[in-house]
Amino acid sequence: MRKPFIAANWKMNKTLSETREFISSFVPAVKDVKDVDIALAPPFTSLAIASENLKNSNILLAAQDVFYEEKGAYTGEVSPLMIVDIGCRYVIIGHSERRQYFNEADEVVNKKIVSAKKAGLGVIFCIGESLAERDAGKTFDVLQKEIADGLKGIDDKDIVVAYEPIWAIGTGKTATSEQAQEAHAYIRERLGFLYGNKADEIRILYGGSVTPENIGSLMACKDVDGALVGGASLKVENFIKIVKFKEGK
Ligand code: 13P
Repeated sequence: MRKPFIAANWKMNKTLSETREFISSFVPAVKDVKDVDIALAPPFTSLAIASENLKNSNILLAAQDVFYEEKGAYTGEVSPLMIVDIGCRYVIIGHSERRQYFNEADEVVNKKIVSAKKAGLGVIFCIGESLAERDAGKTFDVLQKEIADGLKGIDDKDIVVAYEPIWAIGTGKTATSEQAQEAHAYIRERLGFLYGNKADEIRILYGGSVTPENIGSLMACKDVDGALVGGASLKVENFIKIVKFKEGK
């Protein structure tokens, strides 16, 4: 049985006081949720305060990105060791916004995953097709390549895959349950080529306009094991409802 994993990706949002305020409402509201792994990925600037305020809670801390070198002259970058040191258990790698705006290629994504895992971090590895790729019937080709190149030489342990169709991110257009299930089943099949039976234990999250309204039907899909939530994770009451999706059934 795969335990559901629900993570908030705040992207470039929230100041220190907004981070504190969110966490002070969120922690008590979800403290009894035992059957879902919950993670928050605030911006780098909020990690320290989040780490302090999440201590002794059931919420894991995640970073939104990391560089692959351990240290040195890389102005503006943050190393896996720094992420671990500040209290992160997970890191998001390969988000489509990094691929799109910062030209992150599969090779870079792979180097980041190698390095993050070496430092003991769990990785939330993002993949997904654009609208043009979907319309051209290339969804599976894109996923296949991103998985093969991104996970080259990586063992299965502590890998969480996030399927985030680019056309569904921040657009209010969620994939239907059928579209999500179809892509997730394909991803699991490809993971099977890499990891054999262990692919059944890997959690595959859906991301792209997840809301309190649609989380239930997405989570009902056989191969959807959780969600990576952007916009709807910024409002604490919405993210609480998403984490407690079982109560909304
Ligand atoms: P939205 O939930 O805002 O569509 O963002 C999804 C996402 O990119 C999470 O990583």
